[in-house]
Amino acid sequence: MYLEAGWSDFLFVQPISGIAVQSETTPGPHSELVKPVFFQEIAGLAKNWTDAIALDVRRVCDIGGGTGRAIYELDLQISGIDKLALVEPSATFCNWAAMLLASESKLPDLPKVDTAVGPIYVPASGRPAPIPLAADRLKILNRNLEECVDLKNFDLVTCLNVVDRHHRPEDMIFYIKEIMSPDGLLILSSPFDFDQSSTPDENSWINDLDSLFDNSWETIGETELFYEFRPFNRKWTRYSSQVLGKRRKAT
Ligand SMILES: C[S@@+](CC[C@H](N)C(=O)[O-])C[C@H]1O[C@@H](n2cnc3c(N)ncnc32)[C@H](O)[C@@H]1O
Repeated sequence: MYLEAGWSDFLFVQPISGIAVQSETTPGPHSELVKPVFFQEIAGLAKNWTDAIALDVRRVCDIGGGTGRAIYELDLQISGIDKLALVEPSATFCNWAAMLLASESKLPDLPKVDTAVGPIYVPASGRPAPIPLAADRLKILNRNLEECVDLKNFDLVTCLNVVDRHHRPEDMIFYIKEIMSPDGLLILSSPFDFDQSSTPDENSWINDLDSLFDNSWETIGETELFYEFRPFNRKWTRYSSQVLGKRRKAT
């Protein structure tokens, strides 16, 4: 389901007569895909907010980056990025991110959302062109945020829909701050869909991202964006994610 949520426009569109179109014209559970608009909108915000504060964005890191769509869109929207890092504890997601972002080879069959029983496996209908990769430009790091003490000086850090999948959201800003440049921008988003398995302590179930920051940070922008997801083909989940842009105040 994360492949559909992140990459449906490349992976699950059927080409007919050389023209890529959706597989059917009648809306329905098999023809309507979740579209990765969220990531395009995040990249647009990142461009606007970094322009507004005249931030030269050379180094970008996405924390909990899943299968890599945010990195892909940020690199499309913002020119001049030298280093991209994707931090993700799921080895499966990291493998998909590596295949989608950094390789031109044929993709293996893809898990596609089907019935509640589980996915079916289908050939990819297409794939994104890999992002420009000079030596060492992209790093895909199969780790938790807390294991990133060696990462430093990122101008732009995104952490999208991870807060409510973290065991201690209140600790996240400490670790994120460690990897940011002093004048860097952090874009954080969350739909606050907390549960016991990801965040056992209910006292940590916040409802405003701003509550994670002390007053050494200033707000650069704030909005809400829809984030769509489909656990199986007859169930659409549409979250509204709070999106917050923060940077540290000049001292
Ligand atoms: C709901 S998914 C969001 C994925 C992607 N950012 C998106 O918006 O589609 C939450 C992600 O957070 C990752 N995650 C959970 N705990 C983490 C941690 N401690 N450090 C970094 N990522 C974490 C998960 O592996 C998962 O990929």
